Amino acid sequence: MSQNKSDKIESMMDEKRLFAPPAAPSGDRRRPHVNGMDEYLAHRDRADKDPEGFWGDRARQLLDWFTPWDKVMDADMNEPRIEWFKGATLNVAYNCLDRHLTNGRRNKAAIIWQGEPEDDVRVLTYQMLYDEVCRFASVLQGLGVQKGDRVALYMPMIPELAVAMLACARIGAVHSIVFAGFSAVSLQNRIQDCEAKVVVTADAVLRAGRSIPLKVNVDEALKDCPSVERVVVVDRAHSNCAMREGRDMWWHEAMADRTLDTSCPCAKMDSEDMLFILYTSGSTGKPKGVVHTTGGYLAYAAHTTQWVFDLHDDDVYWCTADIGWITGHSYIVYGPLALGGTTLMFEGVPSWPGPDRFWHIVEKFRVNIFYTAPTVIRALMREGAHWTQKHDLSSLRILGSVGEPINPEAWMWYHEHIGHSRLPIVDTWWQTETGGIMISALPYATTLKPGSATMPLPGIDAAVVKPDGTPCGPNEGGHLVVRKPWPGMLRGVFGSPERYKSTYFERFPGMYESGDGARTDEDGYTWVMGRLDDVINVSGHRMGTAEVESALVSHPAVAEAAVVGMPHAIKGEAIYAYVTLSAGTEETEELRAALRTWVRKEIGPIATPEVIQFAEGLPKTRSGKIMRRILRKIASGAGSDFGDTSTLADPGVVQDLIEGRVQLT
Ligand code: WTA
Repeated sequence: MSQNKSDKIESMMDEKRLFAPPAAPSGDRRRPHVNGMDEYLAHRDRADKDPEGFWGDRARQLLDWFTPWDKVMDADMNEPRIEWFKGATLNVAYNCLDRHLTNGRRNKAAIIWQGEPEDDVRVLTYQMLYDEVCRFASVLQGLGVQKGDRVALYMPMIPELAVAMLACARIGAVHSIVFAGFSAVSLQNRIQDCEAKVVVTADAVLRAGRSIPLKVNVDEALKDCPSVERVVVVDRAHSNCAMREGRDMWWHEAMADRTLDTSCPCAKMDSEDMLFILYTSGSTGKPKGVVHTTGGYLAYAAHTTQWVFDLHDDDVYWCTADIGWITGHSYIVYGPLALGGTTLMFEGVPSWPGPDRFWHIVEKFRVNIFYTAPTVIRALMREGAHWTQKHDLSSLRILGSVGEPINPEAWMWYHEHIGHSRLPIVDTWWQTETGGIMISALPYATTLKPGSATMPLPGIDAAVVKPDGTPCGPNEGGHLVVRKPWPGMLRGVFGSPERYKSTYFERFPGMYESGDGARTDEDGYTWVMGRLDDVINVSGHRMGTAEVESALVSHPAVAEAAVVGMPHAIKGEAIYAYVTLSAGTEETEELRAALRTWVRKEIGPIATPEVIQFAEGLPKTRSGKIMRRILRKIASGAGSDFGDTSTLADPGVVQDLIEGRVQLT
């Protein structure tokens, strides 16, 4: 860290630093899409006064429609009934591909793919991607896939995944992507729920220098998936996986079929036809199949990509998410391709072969816009800033963050070591359900505060409300809701209209309930505190786990921290903190005491952790989300019964944590 001690990061509550937006790049060609606060305010004003005019204009500017809509929006969140661009028709693949063949982008890189081995690089121009998509769309049709049928994609981060998504969209099939880190059981549940007809997969996944079998999980899952008729397998790792006669076929063989009709016209889709299903965990029960539809989703993905990342034609844009999550759907594939952008896709991990892989890639492809997650930043921060100094990062223009609140410590590191203290960081709050970014800075307009997602985008009526639905005052914690419909919002939970209504629209009539807690400060900046089920109530005071974590992580000895509530006889709940120390730091009682004092000082006595457990690692999903459910259980003394742990990146962590549990004396 380059800061001195007195300048160390405070907790989010104390965060007062301001970072003004940079000057706009010069030249008309690079003029920011939203240039300065005045433009931002004008858009916001227009969107407030005339939402249908605002969204209608954006949808017209950004997309090509086969037939226009009768009405921009027809919605009532009480019922809920949500329709956008009613009566219009369009096709997502047409917007992401066909139209770019005649607008000057035909030979432009659509996807730059960096494989996990350094020498595995592929560049697909718009023409090349179009050809592949048409071919695979014909393959799917040949397998009997029709409009509305579901296709499960269980694939590594390879171009074939994007090809398969767009091929589905082209013929009106609904894709359901299952992150390749999920187990056979999770895959099976998801296939059963949406009754997929075809599964597309690969023999194996290349990860950190190893080849991890994938097709075996499909075989296992399909033991009880009667809906699945055919499986298409990409031969990614030449691992000789078993193929089942009559059911399984190789991607490369199917695509090489010379009798394929590759003209494959685009299906004319209604704006409200289903585009995809994506499963996401709820606080209880089995994962929900979040449904997104065609017109509203694509318009929203394109709109937010253009404004939040200020995407221009000659940018190289890199979102490091996996396409198995919503971030990859909206910000690797649909948003950037709808805009005719160049999107970089990376197969590997940030830490292999060294902790500078990301920075190496930024330098190699001269990446301009870089979008990642706080967990990645913290992990790389732990390895030391010297890794960043080995590379020329001067091409970077905008940095982004998503997935969880970014603690000011990580924000500052990102700002200083990756942004060289000059680049804006857009901290983007949104969810699988929102389809796209909802609360975020705009890079050339918004003054930043480290740790705050800043303000809702124009047209997004996000608010923090009390349990009775009335607005909270400044800095008063409450429920983060959205009070007006927006084009990208989910249209259902697949097969469960009841769950759709009860999860999102029942508690606050006429509003969308996000499930997150937040506060809005005196300047109107939003501070997301995390899932409300992660909020701890200590002696009647609400304490955001993110805030305690942020305080802990701001201590030089701490690399990562996760905080949960534990039952406490007097206080109701007390704070239990799991702390991973920076490399080389010793676990001592003195340090434990020092950390408690530190947090006490940073936030206040109310936030003092009752217990600090030093942990080698935290239970994380493959996507880097900490599974707090498990941490809460361990903190409350449970030694077993952790529910579904199949999504953990390293299940061994759990036993270590149980053994290291600290008893209250
Ligand atoms: C959290 C990922 C604070 C939040 C796009 C939300 C964030 C959940 C942020 C959705 C952020 C995401 N600041 N919290 N910038 N981004 N979250 O569905 O709790 O995987 O409800 O979508 O992540 O996660 P999901």
